[in-house]
Amino acid sequence: MGDDIVTMDKIVSLCKRRGFVFPSSEIYGGIGSSYDYGHYGVLLKNNVKAQWWRAMLQERDDVVALDSAIIQHPKAWEASGHLAGFTDPLVDCRTCKLRFRADQLQGSQCGRKPSKAPGETADCDLTDPREFNLMFQTTIGPVAAEGSTAYLRPETAQGIFLNFKHYLQFSRKRPPFGIAQVGKSFRNEITPGNFTFRMREFEQMEMEFFVPPAEATQWFEHWLGERERWYRELGIRPDHLRLRAHAADELSHYSSATSDIEYLFPIGWQELEGIANRGDFDLSAHAEHSGERLDYVDSATGERYVPHVIEPAAGADRAALAFLVDAYDEDQIEGEKRTVLRLHPLLAPVKVAVLPLVRKDGQPELAREVYGALRNRMQSEYDEGGAIGRRYRRQDEIGTPWGVTIDHRSLQDRTVTVRDRDSLAQDRVPLDELADELERRLRAPWRSPKCPPS
Ligand code: GAP
Repeated sequence: MGDDIVTMDKIVSLCKRRGFVFPSSEIYGGIGSSYDYGHYGVLLKNNVKAQWWRAMLQERDDVVALDSAIIQHPKAWEASGHLAGFTDPLVDCRTCKLRFRADQLQGSQCGRKPSKAPGETADCDLTDPREFNLMFQTTIGPVAAEGSTAYLRPETAQGIFLNFKHYLQFSRKRPPFGIAQVGKSFRNEITPGNFTFRMREFEQMEMEFFVPPAEATQWFEHWLGERERWYRELGIRPDHLRLRAHAADELSHYSSATSDIEYLFPIGWQELEGIANRGDFDLSAHAEHSGERLDYVDSATGERYVPHVIEPAAGADRAALAFLVDAYDEDQIEGEKRTVLRLHPLLAPVKVAVLPLVRKDGQPELAREVYGALRNRMQSEYDEGGAIGRRYRRQDEIGTPWGVTIDHRSLQDRTVTVRDRDSLAQDRVPLDELADELERRLRAPWRSPKCPPS
């Protein structure tokens, strides 16, 4: 066990081999920074999103849900500042024909030898930086005509601001309250890469929390704590998680304070989630551009104000990647190398594998009966192909926390063996207690076995 064994290459290779994530359009040579999620990847990312919804909705009574359109009125992006300000500075090299982010020249790779970095030799011929808007353009209607330009949303947040009024009017929500949304966003990133860390099409999990202006700082602190706790409770090792406050020159155009929750990826400390105090920037801007009032009148005091907004903004793909990296481990069992994903059971794509020890003597029949009962309660798999050790290894590699083995004794006394992925402990459990026992384990507090003993 150790940190040194995890590399991005190993994660990419495991993801492809075990069907978590594939390069998109691979039969056509691939399309840069676009990935498709395979079976186990879908299950893992769904679990990440489900845990986010659970924390936002089920465990609170001050947050409600939304699913807004990807294409909004083009004016929304004028008001939000994205048309003018959602840009990255870009330079081209006329010699190697590559394009770089001006603020990330250091660390970029030049396309021509012997130069390693853009600007390093006299051969490099860099243009002046120019601002490049990251929004994807499309057209509304089949014909591209003047006025038909629209944009794929670069963040899910704006859909929430555009619907704010509905929640006041019809759902009778009163600040402080939040609106949560999970969905695809699109950014024409100049330097995407590092697998699913930075893609042009990705999923966000965002929540806008509307508060009386005087309470903004207090709620900002509240959400910093809540969001960090979410990652920790889902098993991210505390020494791989940190909070970093943005310096004034890093702040987005809408933000008066932002702190990032960062994770120590194999590529170094990187943002997992941003928590921003957006003030009244968005509601005021949309009120001005649309002509609608987007303020709130407190019926008790008569006070009228534009709520301030605290926004925890996370990425579902990036969180799933962090959970994968944090879980990846290699060890030795009986002299053989094992690759294992030590995922929190709630995140594991499959919770339990049901395995008859041999393919005869009535064991497969009983195993299928057990599988039929378990799959009603949790994501389960049945596997009877190959030696039992090999089948365990397959499940370890996709992070399945428990293996249930049916052996000759099971047919006599209706007990089974439950093997634990991490401790390798094997417990004998009566069949009629099995589902309850696994559900108990699923809900129990969990700590990564990769953490040093406390
Ligand atoms: N509404 C605020 C906002 O969008 P952001 O920091 O640009 O803030 C929030 O994005 C989160 O979305 C990031 O912390 C990251 O997890 C995820 N994210 C942003 N760009 C991404 C990309 N190109 N690929 C994958 N995830 C991305």
